[in-house]
Amino acid sequence: MSRDLRCSRRAFFRESGLAGGVAWLALREPRAVSGAQPTAGPKGAPAVRPSTARAAGGPVAISSANGLAAVEKAMGLMQQSVDPLDAAIAGVNLVEEDPNDTSVGYGGLPNEEGVVELDAAVMHGPTHRCGAVASLRGIKYPSRVAKLVMERTDHILLVGEGALRFARAHGFTEENLLTDKAREIWLRWKETLSDKDDWLPADDEVAQALREQVKKRDTGTIHLSALDAAGNFGSVTTTSGLAFKIPGRVGDSPIIGAGLYTDNEVGSCGSTGRGEANLANLCCYQVVESMRHGMSPQEACLDVCRRIAEHTHEKRLLKDGKPDFNVSFYAINKAGQYGGAALHKGVNFAIHDGTVARHEQCAFLFE
Ligand code: GLY
Repeated sequence: MSRDLRCSRRAFFRESGLAGGVAWLALREPRAVSGAQPTAGPKGAPAVRPSTARAAGGPVAISSANGLAAVEKAMGLMQQSVDPLDAAIAGVNLVEEDPNDTSVGYGGLPNEEGVVELDAAVMHGPTHRCGAVASLRGIKYPSRVAKLVMERTDHILLVGEGALRFARAHGFTEENLLTDKAREIWLRWKETLSDKDDWLPADDEVAQALREQVKKRDTGTIHLSALDAAGNFGSVTTTSGLAFKIPGRVGDSPIIGAGLYTDNEVGSCGSTGRGEANLANLCCYQVVESMRHGMSPQEACLDVCRRIAEHTHEKRLLKDGKPDFNVSFYAINKAGQYGGAALHKGVNFAIHDGTVARHEQCAFLFE
């Protein structure tokens, strides 16, 4: 690491109030050297590289780690001059329809009553228009409904029964979004909730494995921000929200400024993770504003992680003072520089900059 970079890192922590006495904080390089070598990925998965955030203009597509195929799809469409929002939506549709992703769309984990409730939002850079749906039941592609809210209403957010009626009016058909896999996980959660009811937890190997998954309380989600070659942005966030939530709970994903925010003159940002923490700090709006004032995408994402950490209620802090949840941010600026950051180490993002779709590492506050 260069001396200059060390100095700027110290300055960042000093200015952000993180200097001294907080030994477990770590900051990845805001701009790693180009040509960084990939580290080995899991068998069959692409290698994960340190961030190589660069300035090259569009097209660029960034997504949460579950969006490797999504950024590939979005990039291919942008290279055929498809609008960046349409490209982004087509990308996340792959994950919305994937039964194996238990945090988004079909196959998403249900609310506490076993019903899948979906949230999504979209934002179109060139027109600064946006649309969103929340607590939408029975519709596999909430991101497409969110785009119709943007295009075919004078509103921004439709929820619950109203959102469903709107989707039906536009020809969407309802289907059961609860897969057997998601139902089994929900059932194990329900069976182990209390020893004061009449549900008897299964105790086979499957139950043990599911119990581990149940403990995590998924807040997966997918976000995708896309910048095309003409310098226009589109962004989308779509999720089944917090696993086993109270029916009607809405997280950050469909809230403009929280789950995503795009300003065509500046950049775009989206989020995954514990929505309540993001909502209380309106982080994606803040990331775009910080980029407007000169921060790199990675610095801006890391800065909102610090805000979340500072504002976390003590009941959500571990004994060592770290938040007991994670939130992650992904951003691109107008120059095509990109970056991601999370509260805790170990989060990747998916990126395509016209070369190859790959994973890179998010910066982080806590080891
Ligand atoms: N970030 C997704 C949620 O909290 O619902």
